[in-house]
Amino acid sequence: MYGLLFNLVLRRLPAESVHHIAFGVLRLLMALPVLGWCLKRLLRPAADSLRVKAFGLDFPSPIGLAAGFDKNAIASDALAGLGFGFIEVGTLTGEPQPGNPQPRLFRLPADRALINRMGFNNEGAAAAASRLSRRGSAIVGGNIGKTKVVPEEEAIADYIKSTRALGPFVDYLVVNVSSPNTPGLRNLQAVEKLTPLLKGVRQALDESCPHKRVPLLVKIAPDLQDDDVDAVADMAMALGLDGIIATNTTISRDGLRTPRSEVDAIGAGGLSGAPLKGRALQVLRRLSARTQGKLVLVAAGGIETADDVYERLKAGATLVQLYTGFIYGGPLLPWRLNRDLAAKLSREGVRSVLALQSLDA
Ligand code: FNR
Repeated sequence: MYGLLFNLVLRRLPAESVHHIAFGVLRLLMALPVLGWCLKRLLRPAADSLRVKAFGLDFPSPIGLAAGFDKNAIASDALAGLGFGFIEVGTLTGEPQPGNPQPRLFRLPADRALINRMGFNNEGAAAAASRLSRRGSAIVGGNIGKTKVVPEEEAIADYIKSTRALGPFVDYLVVNVSSPNTPGLRNLQAVEKLTPLLKGVRQALDESCPHKRVPLLVKIAPDLQDDDVDAVADMAMALGLDGIIATNTTISRDGLRTPRSEVDAIGAGGLSGAPLKGRALQVLRRLSARTQGKLVLVAAGGIETADDVYERLKAGATLVQLYTGFIYGGPLLPWRLNRDLAAKLSREGVRSVLALQSLDA
């Protein structure tokens, strides 16, 4: 049904417009008193076998929505109502900013992929914080990045501004240093720059949330060299971070089915979806070997099916996230993934996700 709608109508419209229309319809449906309530009950992760504990939180499912979809924290509860175990909002920056000129989001249906150069279009951390102060019970993480006009030398102060605004209203915070669409941002992944940044954010988080310890994670790019992945993992453990999200989008264009001329015509941006699967899994495996269960690993990149989720959980992920699979799979994808993952666990003779994770620990 969604496949038909996608092929007949949605793929003919500009990708960003479809995003706004679909988002609007979802919010409307979920806000309807009886229908919204029924949908949430029908779609929620029902199986106890899917429950996961990570950094002191009890997730109803390990499958979450990755950052970038709900940039301004407008609909975290409606999205969680589709069956996601958690929602990551953002990327939010210290100052509001319009992002890059449109068009800036492109579909590559032959590859089940997207290329985006959104450039952190968002209303700013303070506006999102005020919305999150009224949110419901879904688990929500806040993802923060650097305001484009802020020079690299002042990046820490900008991240701290977002931290102070969002910290009190989120269940965990993510420092995003891996988007390819903010000039210079990925330079912050170098350990000598990342260390003071993460120390500063941790301190600001503790100061702004004196009554609870908000978990802190860092999100990395799939384009890091293997040695740099190890270096980030070592630094994260040394600083007492809670976890790493691997990975963001890639600047690579290798192995695509879409003709080279079409890909080149799109231009710069981060590639996400199926073509990212292999490298994202490699990075996860490397992190898992390096961290030996000492950090929570959140896997993202090319996840489309329950088999993908299972593979990531077996490879050391505690949680997984997706974005592009949701665009191609439609609004019932989280529900299907939860259903299929529960079935896969019982087929494999594994009692629960928790049991699967302790088998591999
Ligand atoms: C993203 N992603 C992203 N990540 C992030 O940390 N902050 C952001 O603002 C965005 N924005 C964004 C916009 C769009 C249109 C896409 C497709 C992606 C990256 C996303 O969270 C995820 O890490 C990657 O897309 C890989 O997962 P998928 O899409 O392959 O499931």
